[in-house]
Amino acid sequence: MRITHISDIHCNYGTDFNLKIFEKAVKLVNKTDADVIFISGDLTTDGLLSEYKLAKEKLKQLDGRIVIVPGNHDERNLGFKLFPEFFGETDFIHTYEDVIFIGLASSEPDKDDGRLGRSRHEKIKEGIKKNKMTILGFHHHVIPVPNSGRETNIIEDAGETLDIILKNNIPLVLMGHRHVPYGVKIHKTLLVNAGTFSCNRTRAHFGNTFNIIDIDDNEIEVKVFDIVKNNEKKMIKFNLDDGCCINRYYDLK
Ligand SMILES: [Fe+2]
Ligand SMILES: [Fe+2]
Repeated sequence: MRITHISDIHCNYGTDFNLKIFEKAVKLVNKTDADVIFISGDLTTDGLLSEYKLAKEKLKQLDGRIVIVPGNHDERNLGFKLFPEFFGETDFIHTYEDVIFIGLASSEPDKDDGRLGRSRHEKIKEGIKKNKMTILGFHHHVIPVPNSGRETNIIEDAGETLDIILKNNIPLVLMGHRHVPYGVKIHKTLLVNAGTFSCNRTRAHFGNTFNIIDIDDNEIEVKVFDIVKNNEKKMIKFNLDDGCCINRYYDLK
């Protein structure tokens, strides 16, 4: 199974949205031939109706099955009421063959901080099935992400969330928000962030990127695709059977 993981598109009519990059990136994503395209939030910058309309229009260019969770920017200015109207449910459990994908809204209206809360923690537990691989996706991060500036906005209940993730050996957690790609293995879990897809607010030389994630029975491999440079680099690989992890994050720059 292949998941193409996109984050932080930031459609808007101000300075955030880079239309040229977006148009190029969409073509690259469509070539990845993914089973699922996961978008981990911040589709807009201010949650405005005009931005939601723009995001909806632009995302029509993506081919294939798309699943989306909201980010903190999508919940600004009553945007949390628009998200379900434009993109459907914010919290869901989907089954794709041997994979359970649990998407959660970690954002709250007009706050940059995130929180999952007890009901979403229960949803995670509800979604876990013994004979299937569980993948979790939400916008905010559960541990600090390097190369993204001063640490802010880890979800408020990160301790409880991480405890549920690690206790249940959830192999893969997909997040965004910090506008840089990152991957790290903790216990038997890969924590993976996608960088920003088309926002001009990039960090140093990281540029605009998306992640390509290949999953087979016993292995998960994450590659980072640099949209401007038009190349992909291996970031992290994790073997679920023997626990072996190869982390090439430090070769990314
Ligand atoms: Fe963002
Ligand atoms: Fe964000």
